Amino acid sequence: MSQREHFGSRFAVIAAMAGSAVGLGNIWRFPYILGENGGAAFILVYIAASLILVLPIFYAESIIGRRARSDTYGAMKKLAPGTHWHWVGLLTVISPLLLLSYYSVVGGWSVEYLFKSLSFSFTDVPAEEIPGFFGHFISSPWQPVLTHTAFMAMVTGIVLGGVKKGIEKFSKVAMPLLFVLILVIMVYSLTLPGAFKGVEYLVKPDFSRLTADACAAALGQAFFSLSLGVGTILTYSSYVKKEENLLVSGLGTAVSDLLFALIAAFAVMPAVFAAGIQPGGGPGLVFETLPFIFHKMGEGMPVVTTLISAVFFVAILAAALTSAISMLEVGVTFLADEKGMPRRRATLLLAFLCWAVGILCSLSFGPLADVKVLGLSFFDFLDGLCSDWLLPLGGLVFTLFVGWKLSKADVRDEFTNGGTVNVRLFGVVYFLMRFVAPVGILVVFATNLLM
Ligand code: PFF
Repeated sequence: MSQREHFGSRFAVIAAMAGSAVGLGNIWRFPYILGENGGAAFILVYIAASLILVLPIFYAESIIGRRARSDTYGAMKKLAPGTHWHWVGLLTVISPLLLLSYYSVVGGWSVEYLFKSLSFSFTDVPAEEIPGFFGHFISSPWQPVLTHTAFMAMVTGIVLGGVKKGIEKFSKVAMPLLFVLILVIMVYSLTLPGAFKGVEYLVKPDFSRLTADACAAALGQAFFSLSLGVGTILTYSSYVKKEENLLVSGLGTAVSDLLFALIAAFAVMPAVFAAGIQPGGGPGLVFETLPFIFHKMGEGMPVVTTLISAVFFVAILAAALTSAISMLEVGVTFLADEKGMPRRRATLLLAFLCWAVGILCSLSFGPLADVKVLGLSFFDFLDGLCSDWLLPLGGLVFTLFVGWKLSKADVRDEFTNGGTVNVRLFGVVYFLMRFVAPVGILVVFATNLLM
């Protein structure tokens, strides 16, 4: 037990956790989900859901992980011996692997778009042809499989490096870099003629468009974005030192995540409006519209277009990598802790499985488009299963476990570092974990079922 690795500093903890949280969810998913659900009013619900329902679950996962210093399954076994709770822990070993399978496909899209940017593919053709690239690319039987493979290889390489030399080292460089890159794009986007309409869309709420569906989408997005309910934060917390202040690292992560999502929205939407494109464009929004916009921005100056789009897709790729490694790490820690499997073998085995399932997801945009699971393509089915069900379900289990199974004294001891920090706030956080978060999630489940 004493040889278990640790993150080296608070910055490292927040960089790794924020690295997991900030990803395609912020840059690719948030802008299009927001576009489909009405803009500013959705953002308000999203912020409220993040802070009131989802942040307490972050704390629940942190408390379990650091207390048990173990993987999700082992943690529940250790903290609730002789019960069946660990079976649910097992569920949260499987869900991040399912998530990684399709996440890696989108990660692969960013590899392709980076390559396209650097090879001047966006500048050699008239701007109007660029949005069509996306449909053509994702329906190819081999290209997206190849880029999914490349993305998975990068993820595997980083995780093979271990917690400190792989995950921590990479996150500490990638996260600040990403922040600067996305800020540059935002400033550029805000200066475009016609950008104002996009800003208005993001700040002027129209509550008449706020349906129950939109609220459920906001909660699902908050779970996805903060990497909750799949044991990632629990696993990372098992590498956090006893002296670390859990309240601060949780808030640091949530605020960074929110900030990135908002900056991404302000980078994407003004540009979308400036180009006269519909905001509810779906998953292709970032890939179809942004290169088109970059082309327009750099009209007659191919180097400018190339530079801006390369910067943007490097940013997406870096964000996707720091998230994807955290998904793989959950299963690797499980196999290493529970089965005594060497990390290297565990990493290669799980990466291979995710890669294989990912191929089905990738092909579901092309040759397997007609194969449906419950009426959905394989990709959409996995995305819906994970974000609408498995993540909130995992979150519900974690918060019930901390709020109702563990003793209050143990929870307080872990959250307050033995009564030395956050003592006053403990009552509020405990109340949110025990009552507010579970009821909120159940309401959303009921809404999902009835809709
Ligand atoms: N939070 C990541 C994103 O926003 O892209 C996605 C994610 C990572 C979800 C890790 C779950 C997870 F365990």
